[in-house]
Amino acid sequence: MARHIRRIAICTGGGDAPGLNAVIRSVVISAAKRGWECYGIREGYNGILFHERYPDGGVFRLTPEKVRGIGHLGGTMLGTTNKGNPLQFPMKMSDGTIKEVDRTGEILDFFAKQELDALVSVGGDGSLTIANALHQKGLRVIGVPKTIDNDLDKTFTTFGFDTAVDFASACLDRLHSTAESHQRVMVVEVMGRYAGWIALHAGISGGAHAILIPEIPYDLDKVVAKILRRDSLGRMYSIVVVAEGAEPAGGHRAIVAPAEIGHAERLGGIGERIARVLQERSDKDTRVVVLGHLLRGGSPTSFDRVAAMRFGTAAVRGLAEGLSGVMVALAFPNVNYVALEDVAGRMKGVPMDCDTLQTARDMGICFGD
Ligand code: F6P
Repeated sequence: MARHIRRIAICTGGGDAPGLNAVIRSVVISAAKRGWECYGIREGYNGILFHERYPDGGVFRLTPEKVRGIGHLGGTMLGTTNKGNPLQFPMKMSDGTIKEVDRTGEILDFFAKQELDALVSVGGDGSLTIANALHQKGLRVIGVPKTIDNDLDKTFTTFGFDTAVDFASACLDRLHSTAESHQRVMVVEVMGRYAGWIALHAGISGGAHAILIPEIPYDLDKVVAKILRRDSLGRMYSIVVVAEGAEPAGGHRAIVAPAEIGHAERLGGIGERIARVLQERSDKDTRVVVLGHLLRGGSPTSFDRVAAMRFGTAAVRGLAEGLSGVMVALAFPNVNYVALEDVAGRMKGVPMDCDTLQTARDMGICFGD
């Protein structure tokens, strides 16, 4: 029989997203209401795997007092990392080669030694895959879905997405006037590695004329035709939003650094690539704006704050009810719990039959197809 919960830990992993601090705060406060102690793990699992690096402890006590006033702040008070997955941790061998080693046993030992009864793991696909593995090895774990990309399956949305879309859309609003004044084409590159949710939502909300997403391989001649059609109607400027992971039909994604042991590939440069071709083929002055990590910063919107707190408190309620191996999800109008194994390793791209995509098409937005 599982022990009655007295002490839980929380960690944040992967790229940061606005709302992480609101989750931490809500977990700590709702756990304290049940008389549970809460501990924060620094930088994903690094606080456990490299505790000697942290002079004041890789894992430290979180009290309601310690999380006071952080709910509206961006980033994560615990720190995070998207390197060094403990399931495939890059380690230097005695012969100098680098090998991937499973270090989850060390995490389980740490939990047992510190008498930590359960873990709330806040993260995206990578973190939830690790959480699932820890659950299968016997740890009580509940996952909380985070990512600005909104590409996690089995939840209507992740926290962080609304803030990213809101900011991107505000940037597009500003670009209209300068683009129109100079009769230019503006290419706006947004994050979205393998899913075009940010580009799609920000593009619709911010009045983009073309949106290029990873799910729809593009043909730039179609975009040029759209730009020139607008010109012929006297609308002498155009805004093109492109997700960093968009790729041309029959071509490749723009990769800055390929995947290597312990690190996923890094994307970037698609905006520049597209702008060059659009300028050449349309003969219009073209500029590029890369929003990149600006989308991950700043205060969460009220939607993301509420979502984060609903997720955090639901994680604690779930643990109290004896759940493990699940992720808290948003299934309007309520939160529910879905099996981590149904989420881990599954990406949610923009479905071709979703009404948001249809909305954009009906509004005359070009997808380059
Ligand atoms: O948070 C997810 C994400 O925003 C991706 O869209 C992007 O490719 C990635 O993070 C970049 O992460 P970093 O530069 O921190 O490695």
